[in-house]
Amino acid sequence: MALRVRKAVLPVAGLGTRFLPATKVIPKEMIPVIDKPVVQYAVEEARAAGIEEFIFVTADGKESIANHFSGHPVLERMLTEKKKNAELQLVREATLPPGAMHLIKQHDPLGLGHAVWCAWELVGDEPFAVILPDDMVLSQTPCLKQLIDAHARVGGHVVAVEDVPRDQTNRYGILDIAGDQGTLTKARGLVEKPAPDKAPSTLAIIGRYVLDPAVFKELDRHTRGAGNEIQLTDALNRTLATVPFHGLRFEGRRYDCGTRVGFIEANVAFGLANPEMKDQLRPIIERLLSL
Ligand code: G1P
Repeated sequence: MALRVRKAVLPVAGLGTRFLPATKVIPKEMIPVIDKPVVQYAVEEARAAGIEEFIFVTADGKESIANHFSGHPVLERMLTEKKKNAELQLVREATLPPGAMHLIKQHDPLGLGHAVWCAWELVGDEPFAVILPDDMVLSQTPCLKQLIDAHARVGGHVVAVEDVPRDQTNRYGILDIAGDQGTLTKARGLVEKPAPDKAPSTLAIIGRYVLDPAVFKELDRHTRGAGNEIQLTDALNRTLATVPFHGLRFEGRRYDCGTRVGFIEANVAFGLANPEMKDQLRPIIERLLSL
C-alpha cells in the first residue's frame, strides 16, 4: 500500500519573460484567469486532492504569491463589519491554514529539476506531488486526485500525460512506451524535449506529478540536460530501473497558460465552464467570430 501523498511542491521561481511587460512587477502566477490568480487554481486543485502542505519554490520579487495565501486581518475585519459575507468567503478561500505553507528560494534558475531538488529537506522521505501552475486542467475529478488515486494502486512515479501533435514533442518530457497500454501506461524511458523525428512517442508529460522520493538522489547529481538545465525528466529516467513509472491519461482538458494564446484559451474555457458567466459569454464569442 503506497504512502499517502500529503505534500505538494509548486515551482514558482520563473521570471515569466514571455508575459512581459505584465510580469515586470507581477509574478506570472499571480495573473488572473477570470478573477483568480493562476496559482490559486493549482492550490485549490491540490487541496481538493487531499494535499495538506504546500512548498513554494520561489525567487526574489515573487513575495506576493505567499502574501496572497496569507491571512489579511484588516480586509477581513472590514468585510465582516460591512457584512460582505460572500467577499469574506473569497478572501478566506485564498488563505492557507497556519503552518501549511513553506517557502524555499531557488537562487539560480537552473531548471525544473533543480527547483524540485530545492524542496528535498521539506519533502523528506515520502511520496509527493509537483504541480506546475502554468498547466491548468478542467476536469470532473481534480487532475491531481486522479494521479493520487492511481498512485495508491501502482505506487512509484505517476504523472499526467496527454498525446500531443508530433511537431510539438520538443516542448515536453516524452514517454518511451511499449505499445499503447490504455489509460495507465508504463514507461520504459523518458526524454526531455526530443526533436519530433527523435521522439519515442507523442505521449507528453503535463504539469502534474506524483513522485517517489528516490528522485531526489538523482537530482542531487545536478546533471545538466536539455537547454543546459537540470531536468526533472532526466532524473526520473535514471530511477526507472528501481521505481515503476506510469503515465496517466487523465480525464479532463489541459490549458497551457505558459503561452499568450494558451492563456487566452484558458480564460475562454474557464469562462464557458462558469455557470454565472457562460450564457453571457457564448453570444459574445459567437459575435466576435463572425466579425
Ligand atoms: C516542463 C518539463 C516537461 C513537461 C512540461 C509540462 O517543461 O520539463 O518535461 O512536459 O513542463 O508543462 P517547461 O514547460 O518548464 O519547459
